[in-house]
Order: sequence, then C-alpha cells, then structure tokens
Amino acid sequence: MAATDLCTEEEVTHLVHGFYARVREDDLLGPIFHRHVADWDQHLAKLVDFWSAILRGTRRFTGAPMPAHIALPDLNTGLFQRWLALFHETTRLLDNPAMREQADAMARRIAQSFWYGYQLSRDPERIPKQLVPG
Ligand code: HEM
Repeated sequence: MAATDLCTEEEVTHLVHGFYARVREDDLLGPIFHRHVADWDQHLAKLVDFWSAILRGTRRFTGAPMPAHIALPDLNTGLFQRWLALFHETTRLLDNPAMREQADAMARRIAQSFWYGYQLSRDPERIPKQLVPG
C-alpha cells in the first residue's frame, strides 16, 4: 500500500482542525496555545503539513518541532497526557480505522519523544519520566 492510500488530504485536514478546535477550548492547553500562537491559519496549515507528512508521506513539512516545544515554559507530564487524550478523542470519531490506528500510534510516539527531549534539555542529570506505560 502506498503511503498516500492510508487517507486523503481532506481527512488529514479534518483531523487537524478538529483536534486544534478541542485544544483551543481546553482549560489546560488552550491558554498555552493562546499565548504562543498568533496566527491560527498559519499554525493549522503547518500542522496539516506535519500530519500529512506522517500519514501520507508527503514532504511539505519543513519545521523543527522539538526546539519549538523545548522553548515552551512549564510543560509537564499532565499536559502531554491531556494533549494525547484530546488527540484520541478526535481520532475516535474518524471512520477510517487504519488512519486512526496509525495517527494514534504516531501521536503517542512523538509525544513521548518530545516529553523526553523536554526533560533532558531542562534536567539532563535526571532519568526522564515515561508518558505512557510500556
Ligand atoms: C503538552 C503538549 C504540547 C503543547 C503544549 C504544544 C504546544 C505547541 C505550541 C504552543 C506550538 C507553537 C510554537 C511556536 O510557534 O512558537 C507548537 C507547535 C507545534 N507542535 Fe506542539 N505542543 C504539544 C505537543 C505536541 C505533539 C505531541 C506534537 C506532535 C505529535 C506536536 C506538534 C507540533 C508541531 C509540528 C508544531 C510546529 C513546530 C514548528 O513550528 O516547526 N505538538 N506546539
């Protein structure tokens, strides 16, 4: 199966827009995004590119997501868990099970790696905490 067979570009856009609509309304995550994202059209377009690269193998994303997150103050395990919970709430509504599985697995992996990177950048002496068991 070619990477582009997993889902359409419209499905990616639907997922990303649905997810960030939840994020913006969330009591914990909403204020962080409100502080750091000035142009939502631009942010959403970038995130559609990011997820399109992951789910469809397109090559439009050219950002550096790890440093962007390391620069954010006061992130913690609970915030990453909330991020993932909202992501899973969004993917649960997809009627494309293969896309859902792949998106959930990649979100878990990337969230874990950002959270590791974040902790190591702040406190390299300490063993970083796991986000999800296993
Ligand atoms: C607690 C969890 C998270 C928070 C609070 C958060 C917050 C943010 C914020 C505020 C930005 C904008 C930064 C800026 O433009 O200066 C951003 C960018 C971004 N986020 Fe997150 N994020 C989280 C987790 C994740 C995860 C798990 C992923 C991927 C699965 C992700 C993917 C991205 C990408 C691709 C960008 C664009 C980076 C760039 O400009 O190159 N984020 N995030």
